Amino acid sequence: MADKTPETPEKKATPASNPSSPPADANAKTPEKAAGPGSKPSSPAKADTAPSSPAPADPAPADPAPTDPAPADPAPADPAPSAGGVLPADHWTQEPLPEDNDSVLGESLRTETDSLRSSIFNYRTIHGRRYHSEVGNAEYWGSNDEQQMESMDLNHYGLTLGIGNKLFLAPLDEDKLQRVLDIGTGTGIWAIDFADQFPQAQVTGTDISPIQSSWVPPNLKFEIEDCTLSWTFPEASMDYVHMRWLNGSITDWTAFFKEAYKTCRPGGWAESSESSGLILSDYEPIPDTTALGQWSKVFAEGGKKIGRSFTIVEDGTQRKAMEEAGFVNIQEYNYQRPLGSWPKDPVLKEMGSLAQAAWEADIEGYILFIANTLGWTTEQIQVYIAHLRYEMRSGKYRGYIPQKVVWGQRPE
Ligand SMILES: C[S@@+](CC[C@H](N)C(=O)[O-])C[C@H]1O[C@@H](n2cnc3c(N)ncnc32)[C@H](O)[C@@H]1O
Repeated sequence: MADKTPETPEKKATPASNPSSPPADANAKTPEKAAGPGSKPSSPAKADTAPSSPAPADPAPADPAPTDPAPADPAPADPAPSAGGVLPADHWTQEPLPEDNDSVLGESLRTETDSLRSSIFNYRTIHGRRYHSEVGNAEYWGSNDEQQMESMDLNHYGLTLGIGNKLFLAPLDEDKLQRVLDIGTGTGIWAIDFADQFPQAQVTGTDISPIQSSWVPPNLKFEIEDCTLSWTFPEASMDYVHMRWLNGSITDWTAFFKEAYKTCRPGGWAESSESSGLILSDYEPIPDTTALGQWSKVFAEGGKKIGRSFTIVEDGTQRKAMEEAGFVNIQEYNYQRPLGSWPKDPVLKEMGSLAQAAWEADIEGYILFIANTLGWTTEQIQVYIAHLRYEMRSGKYRGYIPQKVVWGQRPE
């Protein structure tokens, strides 16, 4: 566990650095120091409290100069942004890539190595990548093949480091944990770690994609269930419900947390951990015309098209929806996840390296579905990815991604 004293990330990108970003009220707040995650929750009115142990140092001011050479600034083309400030897709094929970019582009045009494990799995294929088939209400934007699974697992380590090398922040009564639910479990890596840490607890992970490992601790099982429908678990059956990285997957967050509320026992806890789509920098404003600057806009627009928001963190949706669902003693912790190995602080450096590795493992699997939804061609998507990869690798902007963890209790 990281035991270093937190430094509060005071410095935030000014609105001017991202003029057309979605309202960033929640992100713009400086996380405050507060009681540690094991302490008693403060009153519901107390917003933005941060656990004392896991808070990372502010990634932004840690390093005075980037280690890698800065790329040339993007050509000041005169693109006419469309809805939500998204540049026209052919902007990316017209925008010159730096000359040394050949290998970067080559890597992004990798051959599909889909490895269907069984003919019982029916998946959709978009531009050669494997996606969850349409089941029930669900329409998931990420791919579910092995490249994406590797990326999810890398993210898991970064996300646990971000909260002090922990799996959760809710003040659980650890000795008494009996039933735990992980919604949208993905590869199941969080649930596996949790089940290992609490062998006395029965842990269940749910997802719409059957991509979980079959080598799991004996106290863990996985079930296929669409979390946007009514949950099938008995009422008041869970001590703890964990929900991580579900932005872009939930149609109605209040209805979603009402299911969590119903499933929690009185006194039980629910915890939601989400990542912003924004890539911010406190060091150098990230222009809207860069691939990094476009990332959140593309997702925000795509999210509108599929009726599933990607601006959960910026909009403060987790807290609002938890309150509406009836949870009390709500607390939250905001932190910044660096993108790239630019921070000096060793924990932040590791988090940044993991975030970059997760992206490098599968940027395509993240953006393909959404860009396809916006009508981009394969070539446009691949060239956009090449720009994104180049900007990220350059380290020029020292970007970071805002993260928000919110936890609340069903009244006793
Ligand atoms: C970005 S991954 C996060 C996985 C995991 N929670 C983690 O943090 O590592 C999102 C997961 O949610 C799942 N998902 C998306 N829509 C869902 C739904 N309606 N019901 C259940 N799971 C869903 C996806 O299949 C995917 O595995």
